[in-house]
Amino acid sequence: MSKAEEIKKLFEEKINSITASEAVEELRIEFLGKKGLVSGLMSELKNVPNEEKKEFGRLVNVLKQEIESAIAQKKEELIKKEEEAIINSAEQYDESLPYEINMGSYHPITLVQRDLERIFASMGFAIEDYSEIVDDYHCFEALNIPKHHPARDMQDTYYLSTENQLLKTHTSAAQNAIMKKYGAPLRAVFPGRCFRNESTDACHENTFFQMEGIMIDKDISISNLIYFMKTMLSEVFQKDINVRLRPGFFPFVEPGFELDIECLICGGEGCPSCKNSGWLELCPCGMIHPNVLKHGGIDPEEYTGFAFGLGLTRLAMMKYGIKDIRVFNSGSLKALSQFKNE
Ligand code: DAH
Repeated sequence: MSKAEEIKKLFEEKINSITASEAVEELRIEFLGKKGLVSGLMSELKNVPNEEKKEFGRLVNVLKQEIESAIAQKKEELIKKEEEAIINSAEQYDESLPYEINMGSYHPITLVQRDLERIFASMGFAIEDYSEIVDDYHCFEALNIPKHHPARDMQDTYYLSTENQLLKTHTSAAQNAIMKKYGAPLRAVFPGRCFRNESTDACHENTFFQMEGIMIDKDISISNLIYFMKTMLSEVFQKDINVRLRPGFFPFVEPGFELDIECLICGGEGCPSCKNSGWLELCPCGMIHPNVLKHGGIDPEEYTGFAFGLGLTRLAMMKYGIKDIRVFNSGSLKALSQFKNE
């Protein structure tokens, strides 16, 4: 048997005993690598008599090609087998089996906010966003609350170490920027997270949500304010809502009001929820102060407008009968997953 035939026989024995694709590469190196058997055979060419050199070279090349193609074929075969084995051993997927999906739910504030956005958008209001970090000018000065004004006491907040920056205490902080952005006439609502340095209890939180709204045009009056609030509230609660205005003081409106709604529980008769008054305090509002319009670049001689600051958190408490405000920021899935959008 020639040397080439010996190598071929050895190769065939070895390749037939291989069962894993990884071993094929080792075999290739053993036979075709730089120091492999076939290369070794080729280096013997110099010892072959001249007249046999050509035939010898041809035989080694044929051997090399046979080994190469046998290796490629074996590799493919084994990889395919291994893939099939993985597929067959995997747990079978049966789409007819019942399965449980744990659906998430929206936060009650998100539900109320979206509801209001839909209602206001349908009445032609733009929906605006605003940052949670604002400066003293936007939160107070532009709203006719100068430094050292006692009205600031009611809105103690968290000041950042960066000069003049603070967490906004009310969504009114966006009024100035929105007036400047659009000019008059203007209708916009802007929901947002607000912060106050408060000790928390069932009715107070340091972080809560409001939705502010402004409407500015020629000849806007308190009747427009009442009309929009009534329409919006009737939509939210899905029934006719009676409202009343009481005087209230806020430096950025003149006149300013507290808007009450007829108690949803007793219908105005008087019950423990409304402290027997028949009314629930819902939303402060008023006619925008001329100074605030001026700060916003709007001429108060030409335009008037109303503004309101709806407590989204408070509204969600009323709508869903939530008695403790701390539930909202609790992160408790047990409590928060109970609210679904009807
Ligand atoms: N920004 C006030 C607050 O958080 C609420 C408010 C009162 C907003 C009257 C208004 C308004 O737009 O007209 O206490």
